[in-house]
Amino acid sequence: MAPRVSFLIVGAVLLLGLAAGAARASNEEGDALYALRLRLSDPNGVLQSWDPTLVNPCTWFHVTCDHASRVVRLDLGNSNVSGSIGPEISRLVSLQYLELYRNNLYGEIPKELGKLKNLISLDLYANKLTRRIPKSLSKLSSLRFMRLNNNRLAGSIPGELAKLSNLKVM
Ligand SMILES: *[C@@H]1O[C@H](CO)[C@@H](O)[C@H](O)[C@H]1NC(C)=O
Repeated sequence: MAPRVSFLIVGAVLLLGLAAGAARASNEEGDALYALRLRLSDPNGVLQSWDPTLVNPCTWFHVTCDHASRVVRLDLGNSNVSGSIGPEISRLVSLQYLELYRNNLYGEIPKELGKLKNLISLDLYANKLTRRIPKSLSKLSSLRFMRLNNNRLAGSIPGELAKLSNLKVM
């Protein structure tokens, strides 16, 4: 084979690999959201558009993506969903707004939420969440709004949260 032809083939294979990698990345976020859907009971059908066979979750209702098709907002406040939040949500690595207020969510706040380094707003108020506020939330250095009131949380607010220097509302 002429060197130039083999060079082209190597290039094409690399591009295909990159494209497949990008598709997998967005599916990973769809998978994480779909795992959440499976945890929730949804009497009002607000999650009906969450179809896991689509290339990515960016067209699903209540989900917002950035230009790179990464999920940046999840808006499920006031949606009458019940169930537990689960650790999968921490796979939405670009998430900035997690709005789950005024529902019937129970169980604990997953400590894995501490991995959401880009989170600006964490609104879980007015649910039935129990156990303690995880210390790991002190790793959310971009956080500006955290509303956890009107739940059934136990214990005190972890002192580590004082590290959150951008926090405006708690
Ligand atoms: C919420 O869901 C329950 C069923 O679990 C239903 O009885 C109730 O009417 C719903 N509330 C609203 C505001 O849609």
